[in-house]
Amino acid sequence: MLKRREPLSITLRLALLFAAIAAAAFVGVGAYLYQTLSRQMVQRDDMDLLNKAVMLRHVLAEQGSLAALRAQPDMALNTVYGQDIRLRIAAMDGSPLAQNSSALPPPELPGVPAAREPAMGDIRNWHSGTGMARVLNVQATLNRREPPVHITLLRERSDRLAIIRRYAIDLLGALLAGAALVAALGFLIVRTGMRPLYAVIGKANDISAHRLNSRLAVDEVPAELRELGVAFNAMLDRLEEGVQRLSGFAADLAHDMRTPVNTLMVETQVALSRPRTVEEYQALMASNLEEYERLAQMIENTLFLARADNAQLGLQREPLELRAELERIGEYFEGLADDSGVALALELPEGGSLQADAILFQRAANNLVSNAIRHTPRGGRVSLGAHFADGELLVKVRNTGEGIAPEHLSHIFDRYYRADPARPASSSSAGLGLSIVRAIMALHGGRVDAASGPGETCFTLHFPHNG
Ligand SMILES: Nc1ncnc2c1ncn2[C@@H]1O[C@H](COP(=O)(O)OP(=O)(O)OP(=O)(O)O)[C@@H](O)[C@H]1O
Ligand SMILES: [Mg+2]
Repeated sequence: MLKRREPLSITLRLALLFAAIAAAAFVGVGAYLYQTLSRQMVQRDDMDLLNKAVMLRHVLAEQGSLAALRAQPDMALNTVYGQDIRLRIAAMDGSPLAQNSSALPPPELPGVPAAREPAMGDIRNWHSGTGMARVLNVQATLNRREPPVHITLLRERSDRLAIIRRYAIDLLGALLAGAALVAALGFLIVRTGMRPLYAVIGKANDISAHRLNSRLAVDEVPAELRELGVAFNAMLDRLEEGVQRLSGFAADLAHDMRTPVNTLMVETQVALSRPRTVEEYQALMASNLEEYERLAQMIENTLFLARADNAQLGLQREPLELRAELERIGEYFEGLADDSGVALALELPEGGSLQADAILFQRAANNLVSNAIRHTPRGGRVSLGAHFADGELLVKVRNTGEGIAPEHLSHIFDRYYRADPARPASSSSAGLGLSIVRAIMALHGGRVDAASGPGETCFTLHFPHNG
């Protein structure tokens, strides 16, 4: 099986990158130096050849005749004595008059005419058996009567090339050493530079579920890590809030379950303390049944919220006739409203439908209307209405009454939150109704909000609606 390669550490990666950049720069500079050096060497040697040619012309003119040259060839040959220059003086038919080496190319006729100074452009490359050479062919006159002679000057380049090659090898060595040095230095520098990151990691490691309140000091970390620190702190904020909410949720749940269970226990103990009549037992069981129902309702609601949290609830969306749905809710609450002395008004739209889960829609609206009726004083009024606005369907439940104080308004959608905890615990209120409404709206991709002032409270369900 193929093993997945571990990603390189950032430090190593940066160090290698530095080394690669340094190597590239060194190669560039090295190539430039190499080029310049070899060009300069060729130029110097070529200048040398030109000077020698000029000098030879002088020497030959001084000798003055072919006969003198034949008699004393050394005079001309000494011009290049002791230097790595090969020389041949030949007649214009190519027959040699004087030469210090036979390893020369055949004369390239006619050569630079005697009347003209030789120039760089007159020098040619020549491949001898041993390597590269630079060759210059010029003519020289001895006197006016005799024909000019032909001079061939040659400079081997193999010794120069050897120097340049050694230079190139030195350059390559320096390049490798330099790149290795840069990599090592880069590694050290990056490791030093990364120290703040390790500090941040250390700090993050210190934070455990029990010490969620500790935060990274964002001001002390380098700018590059600041955003990470801010995001990390924000994540901790959310985590801490979640953990707190969860433990609060559990505590509230335990507390709210304890009350009905205690009532059941006490009543049962009292009843068992002595023999009772059948009627007394029946009364006890009837009262117990109420508590059981309350417990069952609470457990059901809590389960519903837990499943909504985990998005385990499958929505069964279907087209709902708005008017019919709202009328049904109105009928359902008619009796309760009458008993509470509250007027229940419906403000129905002409038509229109929405895509929603019928049971959940009813449940959300029921929760709002039952809250409204419960919090409306006798003689007050509750209205249930719906209308379309800005691509949304708004379902509004309004009621008269004292309203909800601003400090409670932001919490009423929290689980187990009751604005008025002094309300007798035996009343069926558990503080879950609005959390359920909110969960239902979230499942539908909508939201719920509440506005309240002295005299009126209004809850609005926002259903997204297209078309
Ligand atoms: N129309 C309203 N007018 C005034 N206060 C309200 C209104 N609706 C809700 N509240 C306040 O918001 C709190 C939370 O409401 P929620 O429906 O979540 O819980 P509950 O009605 O107390 O209990 P449950 O609905 O679980 O039986 C209520 O206790 C009440 O104080
Ligand atoms: Mg309620």
